[in-house]
Amino acid sequence: MSSILDQLKQQTVVVADTGDFETIAQYKPTDATTNPSLILAASQKPQYAKLIDDAIDYAKAKGGSIEEQTENSLDKLLVNFGCEILKLIPGRVSTEVDARLSFNKEATIQKALQLIELYKAAGISKDRVLIKIASTWEGIQAAKVLEEKYDIHCNLTLLFSFCQAVACAEANITLISPFVGRILDWYKSSTGKTYESHEDPGVLSVRRIYNYYKNHGHNTIVMGASFRNTGEIKQLAGCDYLTISPSLLGELANEQAELVRVLSPELAKEVAEPKVTFDETAFRWALNEDAMATEKLSEGIRKFAEDGRKLEATLRGKLE
Ligand SMILES: *[C@@H]1O[C@H](CO)[C@@H](O)[C@H](O)[C@H]1NC(C)=O
Ligand SMILES: *[C@@H]1O[C@H](CO)[C@@H](O)[C@H](O)[C@H]1NC(C)=O
Repeated sequence: MSSILDQLKQQTVVVADTGDFETIAQYKPTDATTNPSLILAASQKPQYAKLIDDAIDYAKAKGGSIEEQTENSLDKLLVNFGCEILKLIPGRVSTEVDARLSFNKEATIQKALQLIELYKAAGISKDRVLIKIASTWEGIQAAKVLEEKYDIHCNLTLLFSFCQAVACAEANITLISPFVGRILDWYKSSTGKTYESHEDPGVLSVRRIYNYYKNHGHNTIVMGASFRNTGEIKQLAGCDYLTISPSLLGELANEQAELVRVLSPELAKEVAEPKVTFDETAFRWALNEDAMATEKLSEGIRKFAEDGRKLEATLRGKLE
């Protein structure tokens, strides 16, 4: 019998959830991601100093106020790391728009265009990049414009609720990464209960989104992310994509048992739910009604923004 991981790979595109160069080189995932948190960690390592120096030189040459130079160096640094990752993988790298722009549609669009421009200058076509944006109303609307008008592909993140997923599908977004483990964390701490994998609220959330998309002909790719254990992963076998940490990949590779497919377009027909639509008012209401999604989205944006500020402070120190 083959391992759970081998069987999973027959049903689902499996991606290694890491932004660390060494781990990427080791697991050779199709796609990978960067974000300020990962770059902040990597930027402490001496072997990446040249990527930072290059970003600083770029910003100095461009000139402007210290604030402008700091922003330019941050953008360039994200792209420099993205380019390094692309040398190791065949697929796409996700590059994040500054989380502090999460409630500004126009600024998000402009930032994404700048990032794509920097990739282009480095010889990387937009087909190899996914712009990662938080799933706020403004973020989803910005992504809609990027996809429709500029043919720039987006990865909508910090996605915890059905209304966010439906709004993304209606905006014809390339990919969403709904979180599983962070949803479980919230329910465990707020109810004090423990959950079996088949009743795990994070698992149920992703299943509902997947089934809804397949039943209503949405092409947006569902990429389950943030897993706490292999049980959650097995309960999502068949999902379009799953992004899995190196340690859980290792566990799945070592387990020999039959993996039952849980998600497929055919199976989805058995749980058809009617089509719904969310305009801005309905979206904001539905999100606000969902305490878990409201808290987790805010918390996620706060954490990313904090890491962005730290990275910016490091760069500013080198510019002054
Ligand atoms: C999309 O973003 C998530 C983080 O939310 C990341 O884990 C994932 O690797 C990204 N997907 C792709 C295909 O780059
Ligand atoms: C959604 O996007 C895809 C690819 O970007 C495109 O082929 C398709 O026509 C779009 N669908 C709608 C409804 O706009």
